[in-house]
Amino acid sequence: MKAKLHCIDTFNGTANQQDHRDIFAAHGDDREWLFRTFQDNLKRYELDEQVIIHRMSSTEAVKSWNAPIAFLYIDGDHEYEAVLQDFENWSKFLLPGALISFDDVPGWPGPTRVAGIVISKQEFQKYGVAPNVLTFKKIS
Ligand SMILES: C[S@@+](CC[C@H](N)C(=O)[O-])C[C@H]1O[C@@H](n2cnc3c(N)ncnc32)[C@H](O)[C@@H]1O
Repeated sequence: MKAKLHCIDTFNGTANQQDHRDIFAAHGDDREWLFRTFQDNLKRYELDEQVIIHRMSSTEAVKSWNAPIAFLYIDGDHEYEAVLQDFENWSKFLLPGALISFDDVPGWPGPTRVAGIVISKQEFQKYGVAPNVLTFKKIS
């Protein structure tokens, strides 16, 4: 059985990021272009059955989440408070040995500050570094 990937995104862009507002503005009244493009790409690469889309905020999605997670990738709202909330809300579902990656570390202050907190936690071990992505393993 193939693993499922759950993608949680509002597909509205991040309100407090000017570059996101600019990209949406370039699409005029078409507020659905991002969601439509994502769905089209999944179909094109035959991933639409493996990827489950939750079109909502991460704080809304966690309210009905109850499954263990083997790999968590945090790349939503990049404000420090939002990244910290995503980490606190979702990391409790990580299985022992699971991986958690933070996008835009060290490129953005919010995710980088939260990753600094995770480094100090005994239950997480630094696992790998890719360009602008820091990954930890949950060891207990
Ligand atoms: C930096 S983009 C990354 C998108 C995707 N991970 C990728 O690599 O293409 C951040 C995304 O977070 C979404 N977003 C912003 N705030 C969110 C929230 N509170 N909950 C869920 N998604 C959010 C935006 O719509 C945007 O698509």
